[in-house]
Amino acid sequence: MPRNVIYVAPFPLETTLRFSAGIASLDDVRLLGIFREAPKGDAARLFADAEVIADPFDPQQIVDAARRLASRHGPIHRLLGILEDAQVQLAQARQALGLEGPSVETTVAFRDKAHMKERLRAAGLPCARHALLHGPEAAWAFAESVGYPLVLKPPAGAGCRATYRVSSPQELHRVLGEAQPGPGRPVLAEEFLTGAEYSFETLTVGGQVRFHSITRYYPSPLEVMENPWIQWAVVLPRDISGPEYQPVVNIGHQAVHAFGLQDGMTHMEWFRRPDGSVAIGEIAARPPGARIVDVTGFAHTDVQGRPVDMYRAWARAVVDGAWDGPWQRRYAVGVAFLRGAGQGRIAAVEGLDEAQRRMGALVIDARLPKIGWQRASGYEGEGTVIVRHEDTEVVKRAIMELITTVKVRYES
Ligand SMILES: Nc1ncnc2c1ncn2[C@@H]1O[C@H](COP(=O)(O)OP(=O)(O)OP(=O)(O)O)[C@@H](O)[C@H]1O
Ligand SMILES: [Mg+2]
Repeated sequence: MPRNVIYVAPFPLETTLRFSAGIASLDDVRLLGIFREAPKGDAARLFADAEVIADPFDPQQIVDAARRLASRHGPIHRLLGILEDAQVQLAQARQALGLEGPSVETTVAFRDKAHMKERLRAAGLPCARHALLHGPEAAWAFAESVGYPLVLKPPAGAGCRATYRVSSPQELHRVLGEAQPGPGRPVLAEEFLTGAEYSFETLTVGGQVRFHSITRYYPSPLEVMENPWIQWAVVLPRDISGPEYQPVVNIGHQAVHAFGLQDGMTHMEWFRRPDGSVAIGEIAARPPGARIVDVTGFAHTDVQGRPVDMYRAWARAVVDGAWDGPWQRRYAVGVAFLRGAGQGRIAAVEGLDEAQRRMGALVIDARLPKIGWQRASGYEGEGTVIVRHEDTEVVKRAIMELITTVKVRYES
């Protein structure tokens, strides 16, 4: 009897569906779907059966759909999804159905940034001072005690939405006008962390971190949001075994343990402060976005020298409670996120020929922005180019040249 695994994928986005392919690649699994919009074509064929519901963020609708699937196929082995905004609801549905997987308490601690910081601090791990603001007075008091700059953000945001750096009382006044904290409408205030921003990923199985990886952000997502002309970049350095990464490796492992996660992939963001010390920005119990899953796969090979499929590796962790390592970190990999300043639709993508001539040999993946697409609002822009080489410096240079050579132009 195959194990029934339900994957809740509200929208049939390509990345979301690649994780369902990871589950479908496992032995003895019948993949079942819960969607708001069913996928079409090849993606649809991965699913043995599916339910479409009106609101895939409503735990009761998920529970009812899972019960309908169970009535047709038998007991459910796992109920999964990767969307940040759905993690708590999935845990609530698992609880109602008596299924294994991260509990409501664990997912809330990962999802709610105030909870998250309390959990980290209780474990003795470094993160920004914070306060949950239920009104403007609390904001002024926080600014008084912590000083400027500070950051105001939603307590459970994603994608840098409604996240503001506040550098002066005038700015605080303005941002409070927009964010409008009030009773039942909390806004999170944080001390501003300075330094370089990085990520730290793990695959965790049976409560043990089996694999970790690090990427560096150029520059921080917040700076990218503040400056529409900046094209963001992520670089995975080839060698992270040195002493400069030891502190964050220790802290990253302790952070995963502090949340009591059993099986899954985690994505932590952290800062290296000017004095060299580490501060955790946030941690999530789900695979990272920003193509970091692909980048991590491109960097590693298994013991036979074969490329690593990170989508399957995620599925192995959350469905089978297994990891197929050890892997070798053989390459540095970088991603350039293409976009530009302006408004409207993409009119031209300039510099592609020149980039191809100079950096083409290093490019292993490109999803180019298409003429006519609407400018995206996020820091990931409208397209990506991924480069790979054994030498981290070569990758860094290629990425920096790519973002200075390729320009996206818009017309309204
Ligand atoms: N306390 C802070 N100090 C300095 N920078 C911060 C702080 N909080 C947030 N930022 C900046 O804002 C970005 C977004 O914040 P955060 O990661 O908390 O929100 P998010 O919406 O979950 O982001 P995403 O989904 O893009 O990871 C961070 O990557 C960082 O660049
Ligand atoms: Mg973040």
